[in-house]
Amino acid sequence: RFHPFIPAGGVGSRLWPLSRADAPKFLLDLTGSGSSLLRATYDRLAGLSAGPVMVVTGRSHASAVQEQLPELTSSDLVLEPSPKDSAAAIGLACTLIARRDPTAIIGSFAADHVVEPAEAFRDVVKEAVQAADTGRIVTIGITPSSPATGFGYIKAGESLGLPEAPHALTVEQFVEKPDEETARQYVASGRYTWNAGMFVAPVGLMLRYLRTSEPELATGLDRIADAWDTPGRDAVVDEVWPTLTKTAIDYAVAEPAAAAGDVVMVPGDFTWEDVGDFAAINRLNKVDPCTDSQVSILGQNNRVLADESSGIVVSDTGRLIALIGVDDIVVVDTPDALLVTTAEHAQRVKNAVDSLKRNG
Ligand code: GDD
Ligand code: MG
Repeated sequence: RFHPFIPAGGVGSRLWPLSRADAPKFLLDLTGSGSSLLRATYDRLAGLSAGPVMVVTGRSHASAVQEQLPELTSSDLVLEPSPKDSAAAIGLACTLIARRDPTAIIGSFAADHVVEPAEAFRDVVKEAVQAADTGRIVTIGITPSSPATGFGYIKAGESLGLPEAPHALTVEQFVEKPDEETARQYVASGRYTWNAGMFVAPVGLMLRYLRTSEPELATGLDRIADAWDTPGRDAVVDEVWPTLTKTAIDYAVAEPAAAAGDVVMVPGDFTWEDVGDFAAINRLNKVDPCTDSQVSILGQNNRVLADESSGIVVSDTGRLIALIGVDDIVVVDTPDALLVTTAEHAQRVKNAVDSLKRNG
């Protein structure tokens, strides 16, 4: 009855030139573990449900995803013609699952986070499923470490008092990506957590909110689901998909559902990192304290010479790289592009990519 799935889209432009249209963030190994973020997310969900884990991704990523997840059957790989943001991707998964099992509890798990340890994560998800079974949309809350503006903020209230989900709290408000001033106030108040980007809920409740906030999107997804198991599927998908409204699930479902008192929160009692930029990768890849150099190296190239330097080098090229007397440096070396910045300026990589796109 629990149907977990992974929406996997978006490029992750703050990780350029590592992330590209054909090598999005979720397909990369950003921890040096040997697994991509997607593979690790999939493995973390193993054992939580008797059935398979569904993946929703772009057609252009189909073969890369299939290669990383060879056990994924074609019916569990849901492909979209173009990125339409998370409401369409998550809405499609929900619509398809509801056709098979209208009483399903769904779990949507973002493809691009580092979460540890897996056992603690699974305990939290099990509790979330119990709480969702009482007819609520369950979010996972992460204690904020900064007034980041790239996250949703959850204002939790008192305990729900559910014996089967003892840590579940009521939610008074969900605010997606507040401005910096608001985020500062939220963090200072001590009453808000970050939204971990995971939703566990009765499928019917997710779809009810989606239909109310985005009726055209919901109707389009219905048309696609009607054709899903027919030979006309691709033609209907190609016709309907480009017309779908591009919005995030956090606006379409989480904000209005929280305002109506239908959202609860279970604290994410595990280590969680969004790995949105190179500063986060720098934090994750702790250097070996036995070596003099404070530079961590990610990728196949270990021809890196560091003298009184700290930071991170990401490289799969065979180029010899030497760092001398530079601190908190970020060097990302790829065959056709080289990025040099500092951990402090890592957020600005997105601006550079945007201006590259504008200027061709
Ligand atoms: N298939 C598909 N297609 N998946 C998508 C698409 C798309 O067009 N767009 C986004 N996704 C997937 C992403 O891969 C990720 O797994 C999830 O949907 C969330 O989308 P993001 O684009 O990464 O959202 P965000 O990071 O800006 O914000 C979300 O995550 C934060 C935590 O990292 C929100 O849920 C925030 O509230 C949350 O704090
Ligand atoms: Mg994200």
